[in-house]
Amino acid sequence: MKGVVLAGGLGSRLRPLTAVTNKHLLPVYDKPMIYYPIQTLVNAGIKDIMIVTGGNSAGDFLKLLKNGRDFGLKHLNYTYQEGEGGIAAALSLCEDFADNEAVCIVLGDNVIEGNICRAVRAYGEQGGGAKILLKKVPDPQRFGVPELRGERVVRVEEKPDQPKSDYAVIGIYMYDSNVFEIIKTLKPSGRGELEITDVNNSYIERGAMTWDVLDGWWTDAGTFESLLRASNLVAETGANKMELKGAVSS
Ligand code: DAU
Repeated sequence: MKGVVLAGGLGSRLRPLTAVTNKHLLPVYDKPMIYYPIQTLVNAGIKDIMIVTGGNSAGDFLKLLKNGRDFGLKHLNYTYQEGEGGIAAALSLCEDFADNEAVCIVLGDNVIEGNICRAVRAYGEQGGGAKILLKKVPDPQRFGVPELRGERVVRVEEKPDQPKSDYAVIGIYMYDSNVFEIIKTLKPSGRGELEITDVNNSYIERGAMTWDVLDGWWTDAGTFESLLRASNLVAETGANKMELKGAVSS
């Protein structure tokens, strides 16, 4: 399975912090935000990773991450998203990179306490389709929200006024290679973006979606409140066992 970190977008909810730099380069406690999603993939054994960036300071990602040495990687891939066409539009830039393999996508502003090894293993055993990860939250209307019926997810709604559950669909997704054909069928949403929620609903309609609940805490870091929360959580309890490597692993 290959990995993708989506770090495009304009970070407009964090202005003026993002007026001259990229949201994913801002600090979350003692590291740049983008370190956390990369480490999430590496901890799950995923080493072939694409970084999609865009907006301000795109060149600084290369300066910061280089070939991924801090993570024990020998190589990182980079691509550039023009504009802010949405999460699914950013993912569409990875079709050649994926080369018909399954992909695990982590949004560049998602920070987790633990790891996703169990979910990645389970996805490997399900033989294609998609998997989403859920977490109970006090404010589901800020997120994609699943409607659950028993063990089944029957629909995901993006930022609903009246959420049908108290779960958020967190920004970690696993898809087979059909995802790129699905993205080509999407129309921009009300906010003018190709929505990852529409991708997820397409898999649900095909009967090819599973879900798991993530262990440990999860937060995004895309608003002032959640950026502060992410820093505090990392400072208090640490996050996904990040021990930066001094050398490239063999
Ligand atoms: O954090 C989880 C939530 O992320 C999900 O529950 C929602 O279903 C999903 O739509 C998303 O919601 P947000 O409104 O918080 O997404 P945001 O626009 O903040 O983008 C999250 C990350 O995705 C961002 O840090 C970088 C990447 N992104 C986003 C856009 C709009 C891109 O790479 N390109 C883009 O054009």
